[in-house]
Amino acid sequence: MPHPARRDVTQAASVRAQRQWWDAEADDYYAEHGEFLGDASFVWGPEGWTEADLGLLSPDGGMPRGPVLEIGGGAGQCARWLRTRGVDVITSDLSGGMARRARSLNRTTGVPVPVLQCDAARLPFGDTTFGTVFTAYGAVPFVADSARVMRETARVLVAGGRFVFSTTHPIRWAFPDVPGRAGLTVHQSYFDTRPYAEFDDRGRLTYVEHHRTMGARVRELVAAGFRVLDVVEPEWRDGNDSEWGGWSPLRGRLIPGTAIFVAEKAD
Ligand SMILES: C[S@@+](CC[C@H](N)C(=O)[O-])C[C@H]1O[C@@H](n2cnc3c(N)ncnc32)[C@H](O)[C@@H]1O
Repeated sequence: MPHPARRDVTQAASVRAQRQWWDAEADDYYAEHGEFLGDASFVWGPEGWTEADLGLLSPDGGMPRGPVLEIGGGAGQCARWLRTRGVDVITSDLSGGMARRARSLNRTTGVPVPVLQCDAARLPFGDTTFGTVFTAYGAVPFVADSARVMRETARVLVAGGRFVFSTTHPIRWAFPDVPGRAGLTVHQSYFDTRPYAEFDDRGRLTYVEHHRTMGARVRELVAAGFRVLDVVEPEWRDGNDSEWGGWSPLRGRLIPGTAIFVAEKAD
């Protein structure tokens, strides 16, 4: 049985725990969510909105110049969807288990994308390599030092390049993580930014998610050299009856579950 706690966790401990957790969970994650996510589809979050719906990477129908990097890409479905549209894209993830899933989907879909195992806070690329960096719920909620992910992303982007990421909407941290009516009553402070951590019987960290307020996320982006162009707070999509943990049609029509930050590297 995991022992949950709200307790500070270092960046190194977060990375270690995340790698082990996602290595162990990769198959179960895709058994549970693979159908919803698709093998070569681009879904921004449990609300069910896709990149084809929202056009956040290419608002004018075109992407910024330069190749595209997906961080925390899991099995790389989003990258694969971009590839089917002719985009030069690499997917990356911290977890070797996820990278294996990505290579396996490369084979079964016949839509191969390059797959790299790396930490989003230590990107193994030179400065100004990419025109776009993105992630759907990858890396950002799972790192203690998200400011460092913002800085690394800014470093590898060209001036004017775009960074788009979806993550848990900060307000969700004030509510219980359950899909029913009990999930609609505030039970803890939005302002308490200690992470949610799980420990095993021996006190070892096994899982962690990190919280930032909305303002803190914006400040981290600006401090890294980004202009924030938009923060999309999608309502639940009509016709989406799937639940995903605490995300549900009931809650998703009343409070936001996901925030999608759209930023551009300043010149
Ligand atoms: C909720 S999954 C999302 C995966 C995929 N984007 C999707 O939509 O299914 C979170 C992913 O973030 C990855 N991750 C966690 N910490 C990371 C880090 N420091 N660097 C890169 N990826 C990380 C995990 O390995 C996992 O694959």
